[in-house]
Amino acid sequence: MKLIKVNQSSCIKCGICTKVCPTRVLCMQENGPQAINSKSCIACGQCVAVCPHGAIDNVKAPLSNQVDIKSFPAIDSQTAEQLLRSRRSIRCYKNTPVPREKLLKLVDIARFAPTASNSQRISYIVVENKEILKTAVKVIIEWMEQQLENSPHWSFSSHVHAYREDGVDTILRNAPHLILATASRDFKNGRENTISSFSYVELFATTIGLGSCWAGLFEMCAFSNYYPLLKLFNIPTDKVITGAVMVGFPKYKYKRLVDRDPLDITFIK
Ligand SMILES: Cc1cc2nc3c(=O)[nH]c(=O)nc-3n(C[C@H](O)[C@H](O)[C@H](O)COP(=O)(O)O)c2cc1C
Repeated sequence: MKLIKVNQSSCIKCGICTKVCPTRVLCMQENGPQAINSKSCIACGQCVAVCPHGAIDNVKAPLSNQVDIKSFPAIDSQTAEQLLRSRRSIRCYKNTPVPREKLLKLVDIARFAPTASNSQRISYIVVENKEILKTAVKVIIEWMEQQLENSPHWSFSSHVHAYREDGVDTILRNAPHLILATASRDFKNGRENTISSFSYVELFATTIGLGSCWAGLFEMCAFSNYYPLLKLFNIPTDKVITGAVMVGFPKYKYKRLVDRDPLDITFIK
């Protein structure tokens, strides 16, 4: 089957599709754009998305799957800045589960994030069972205690104390849900692609009334391949956890935008 189909009656041979193609699959010939290097196609869909006349179709990125952009930019820069700067790490959640459709909507945004060479290949596990999360926290605390035996001054001792002495969960913050990202064990871009995808998830969460927080302590335990934790989530041996984010309805509203260190920037002329 041909990778690229060009609708000759609507193609005006402007050549934009050949210019945006990242891997030079398309080349402008006398009778219009042609795929000369089909094997290099990374299925990014740029050729299809950019064509002003909808004249290009790509087997790996079908025109029928692409949604028309009605207006661009979709939001003004002030709103965008407000959105980006109003996301916070949420550590206090309402004791209310998030409906599955909302969780699905949230996680579905992850697959639109950019990844190196459009490599993608991240799968997600959404934990809806609070008891499993409670067990995960217990398992992580036990793992931390084992680590502390070797390095008693490890900075994570405060998490163990909070849990053992006060029953406080500083690992998963009592969140009702956890989203795990997984990838094949042999996939080199797993973590990188997860970071990109979860950034989308975290930002989008705020627009549908959800809050999130990266679960770094959970990740540390998971990345050490601690079997009791992996077993709890039925992670097959050919897969690894590449990231974890807590999700739920935020208990409190933030009144001020994120502030950070001043911009450190150099221009080279
Ligand atoms: C990779 C990563 C791991 C993190 N791990 C945790 C964590 O385990 N627990 C936690 O409460 N916050 C965690 N955070 C949240 C950061 O502490 C937070 O992003 C930072 O303090 C800035 O605050 P803000 O997100 O509210 O703007 C993590 C963030 C990132 C990016």
